[in-house]
Amino acid sequence: MKNYKNVFILDHPLIRHKLAIIRNKDTDTKKFREIIQELATLMAYESFKDVPTQEIEVETPLEKTTQTVVKENSIAIIPILRAGLGMVEGVLTLFPAAKVGHIGLYRNEETLEPHEYYCKLPANIEDKVVMVLDPMLATGGSSVAAIELLKKRGCKKIKLMSIIAAPEGVKKVAESHPDVEIYVSTLDRGLNEHGYILPGLGDAGDRIFGTK
Ligand code: PRP
Ligand code: URA
Repeated sequence: MKNYKNVFILDHPLIRHKLAIIRNKDTDTKKFREIIQELATLMAYESFKDVPTQEIEVETPLEKTTQTVVKENSIAIIPILRAGLGMVEGVLTLFPAAKVGHIGLYRNEETLEPHEYYCKLPANIEDKVVMVLDPMLATGGSSVAAIELLKKRGCKKIKLMSIIAAPEGVKKVAESHPDVEIYVSTLDRGLNEHGYILPGLGDAGDRIFGTK
């Protein structure tokens, strides 16, 4: 795959270890959910490295000092329903004050085209750094649709965090939205004829919610 300047692969032995667990078809729903959250936390640590900050005065037991903290009201996270929901708590572990919006999209199983069925975004979303969450970046259709919707609503600084990506999806998002930073923890081989990522982990939504 081409080297895109806006694509970051967050490779780390701990991330690889956790990926091995969620890829395993015998991992149960409880464990699967836990690991998805842990991966989201690890990925958030790295992908929010340029989070907006502000200076505040702090008094230690010894003296006053100026310290740097995360800027108030500067972050929104937007899970793509359903599977993105599984990553929310993991990101909130690091950014408990982040606002949370929701975009509902499902892929038509025949055409693989995304269909929007829900959208509720935090107030003043246009002023925030917005992180779209979706564990799977397959054809890229869902992520591109979510990013387009956010841009229509005035968002200027958008990032995407996906745990597992296929080269096809990365190419589509990276080329459609070169201004959007894409963070993935692994780039898999490709897609099968049904649009599933190989080797992947199967259907992320079904595995998080135990629906199959
Ligand atoms: C899955 C996944 C992504 C999308 C990725 O959702 O959670 O949103 O497919 O595929 P794409 O890159 O080809 O668009 P799905 O449509 O199965 O809905 P669900 O999360 O409700 O199960
Ligand atoms: N959506 C999933 O949940 N898994 C895939 O492999 C592709 C799309």
